[in-house]
Amino acid sequence: MPDLKIGVIGVGHLGQQHARILSSLKGVQLVGVVDASRQQAENIAMRYSTTPYTSHLELLPKVDAAIIVVPTRFHFDVARDFLEQGKALLIEKPITIEPEKAYQLCELAKSKNTTIQVGHVERFNPAYEALCDLPMKPRYIRAERLGGFSGRSSDTGVVLDLMVHDIDLVCSLVQSEVTSVSGLGVAVLGGHEDIAQARITFANGTICDLSASRAHPEARRRMDVWGSEGYAGIDFITKKITLMQPSDSLRYLAESAPGKVDAGTLNSFKTDLFANHVETRTMDCSRTDGDQLTWELLDFVQAVTLGVKPRVDGIAGARAVEISTMILDSICSHRWEGASGNTTGPWDLPYSEGKLFHNLNISKDAAA
Ligand SMILES: NC(=O)c1ccc[n+]([C@@H]2O[C@H](COP(=O)([O-])OP(=O)(O)OC[C@H]3O[C@@H](n4cnc5c(N)ncnc54)[C@H](O)[C@@H]3O)[C@@H](O)[C@H]2O)c1
Repeated sequence: MPDLKIGVIGVGHLGQQHARILSSLKGVQLVGVVDASRQQAENIAMRYSTTPYTSHLELLPKVDAAIIVVPTRFHFDVARDFLEQGKALLIEKPITIEPEKAYQLCELAKSKNTTIQVGHVERFNPAYEALCDLPMKPRYIRAERLGGFSGRSSDTGVVLDLMVHDIDLVCSLVQSEVTSVSGLGVAVLGGHEDIAQARITFANGTICDLSASRAHPEARRRMDVWGSEGYAGIDFITKKITLMQPSDSLRYLAESAPGKVDAGTLNSFKTDLFANHVETRTMDCSRTDGDQLTWELLDFVQAVTLGVKPRVDGIAGARAVEISTMILDSICSHRWEGASGNTTGPWDLPYSEGKLFHNLNISKDAAA
């Protein structure tokens, strides 16, 4: 089979990583990289022995497939040009800013019988893959995705930048329609919300609470999942998963005498609940044979060459944007002081009552 001819459009922070990996993948020929900055295109092209371009239209006729890693506001226009010519695409997340445009791209891909994959790379996190293999039906999910300000992705807020990862993950886990969404957000650094909370309720009764921030002092990416089977906690950074389940004796106790555990047994739980009645296991799922971005690209190459569905298709990406938009609508319409006040949404916070503390830079101990 001839090599798949691929180009990368946008070789900034993330696009150059795609180019690096593609330049060494078997069965792939990196035929060119495109960047609006000629200097950037030339630097990356030289590093990975390929041809630089400054317009995607110049590269388009030379490729079978492309990876779109330009800023999100340009995804739609660039993707449409490639899809109209029947080229397969891996589009970075979020697929687009507006859900209507995301579904439009999916329709176009369908009419041209070609592939769209979306770069929800956490689907390839081995700890998340381990969670998907568990015989567990999630009933309540709590996710946190927090980090410092990168200065990039300023064309969207934190919901489309970070929370969209967890929205996609929970949709993939829960497999049910969304019945309601509520959100709260605050703009700290720029023109979009930088901190956001959301609750998503699914038709099957599952509830998800999501928290995202790009103004946080430390990086944290976690998901906690509870079901009747037990609890699973994922750390996406360390790729560890912690599992807890009731012991057989505790499950028997709960099933045979619900609400009627005798006082002596209840008392013993104070000291030995986690030692004797709740079984815990931590699994290190980290791997040394590659990384998530490589596995995502391998999935794309396989989808295009074999004509199979990628793990994260365009519809999954569009759905994540649709739910993000519902959350953003809720954030924008939130009334901080209820019906009595006028302050609404992420830019319009209630009047400050004053400073929380004084003596900036003096620790509590030093001050005392
Ligand atoms: N999957 C993930 O975890 C993840 C992580 C980071 C970024 N992203 C996504 O990747 C995309 C790019 O993010 P980034 O952080 O690499 O941004 P970036 O600003 O570092 O890079 C974007 C590059 O695209 C170039 N560019 C802009 N317009 C162009 C055009 N029309 N044609 C060609 N080149 C153009 C810019 O010059 C720049 O070099 C965003 O959609 C972002 O959401 C996804």
